[in-house]
Amino acid sequence: MTNGFPPGFTWGAATASYQVEGAVSTDGRGPSIWDTFAHTPGRISDGTTGDVADDHYHRFSEDIRLLADLGLTAYRFSIAWPRIVPAGSGVTNPAGLAFYRRLAETCLDNGVTPYATLYHWDLPQPLEDAGGWLVRDTAEHYRDYAAVTHAALSDVIKHWMTLNEPWCSAFLGYGSGEHAPGRTEGTDALKAVHHLLLGHGLTLDAIRSDEGSYGIALNPAPIHAASESAADRDAARRIDGLRNRLFLEPLLAGKYPADVLEDTGTTDWFGQFEADLPVIGAPLDFIGVNYYCPTTVAAPDGPVSSPGGPTTQPGSENVVAVDTGLPRTQMGWPIQARGLRDILVTINKLAPDLPLYVTENGAAYPDELTAAGTVEDDERQAYFEQHLAVCRELVSEGLPLKGYFAWSLMDNFEWAYGFSRRFGIVYVDYETQARIVKKSGRWLQQFLTS
Ligand code: FCB
Repeated sequence: MTNGFPPGFTWGAATASYQVEGAVSTDGRGPSIWDTFAHTPGRISDGTTGDVADDHYHRFSEDIRLLADLGLTAYRFSIAWPRIVPAGSGVTNPAGLAFYRRLAETCLDNGVTPYATLYHWDLPQPLEDAGGWLVRDTAEHYRDYAAVTHAALSDVIKHWMTLNEPWCSAFLGYGSGEHAPGRTEGTDALKAVHHLLLGHGLTLDAIRSDEGSYGIALNPAPIHAASESAADRDAARRIDGLRNRLFLEPLLAGKYPADVLEDTGTTDWFGQFEADLPVIGAPLDFIGVNYYCPTTVAAPDGPVSSPGGPTTQPGSENVVAVDTGLPRTQMGWPIQARGLRDILVTINKLAPDLPLYVTENGAAYPDELTAAGTVEDDERQAYFEQHLAVCRELVSEGLPLKGYFAWSLMDNFEWAYGFSRRFGIVYVDYETQARIVKKSGRWLQQFLTS
């Protein structure tokens, strides 16, 4: 038992390719939508790009050794599609496959189990030029890339996640435009949802085998109404529909939620693709949950001037996120560990025996190096303590929670925030690429080894 967790519980940390690797033109990697987006002035708040990031492409051995030294035994990383198939479709790049083989083998040599995500947002730019996730072909190209990757690496990687947070890919990428490719396509963003989920299903069909374990990482979150008023409760229904049910129901119950399609006027469009539902709903070996915070919403009487956060999806224009007074991280995200319980229990009700993992959980704070060269991130440590306490309770109640991955192993390129948000349990000095384990990392190490 590790502090009340059963033996065999998976302890890991997570990263994603564009956020940490750098080496964007090395060994035949093609451009992705994040290269284009980050190099577009005004898109990244601090004007930075992922060109170098943590230079993980060259330093992964050191980083994996560090992860193992912390007592962690699993590494969730993502595979960059543009390294494997640089143009998105067509020719495979052996150097890309060789890189991830070295990475996976280095994990294994250090007693670390690799958990690979096949798509953590770096769509090859040529596919975006051909329509991106708004077109069906992208799902098929994704399946082809995933099949090549799996065939080449399934001897060293046994745990696979198809997509990371398709909600973000669709609604931040094609709805609000806050993420690459930065498009604001209104209701058409729902087409991206379908094509992402179809890509997931086609991929599962192509790669699933008894030798491995196959899942998807979602970012569901509890959605609360700010009051008992009919308008606020309806706002909560709509946001819960877009954030949670639009993904969980096709994956776990073989259907799209009718109210969401009605709210967004997409019933006819989705109706053409009923035959895809069995593909999307094919059996999973696990669901990964990336959890950061709950959301409370209201529908004010007057017009909403600047919708943001959960309200960037079509069908939610007159909804606002409400501050309920909870403490917040540097992202502005309210801290409520109970929300992790709520969302895991909700998924467990939909799929009672399905193994669950927390595939991301963590917090950004404005860390600074002390004169002694340490990072005293007590608030992040408290965040982990609170959320791990919830995990422990759920496991003891018999919920099939199988593992926990901290986001993130190390500070990295936080998408539209660039390097201005630090989530690591390891601090990265971007000038020197030095890695410094933060207090929260030391605490986790103690927790895991005591
Ligand atoms: C999640 C992303 C991950 C990271 C965290 C903070 O939405 O999956 O890459 O940026 O948020």
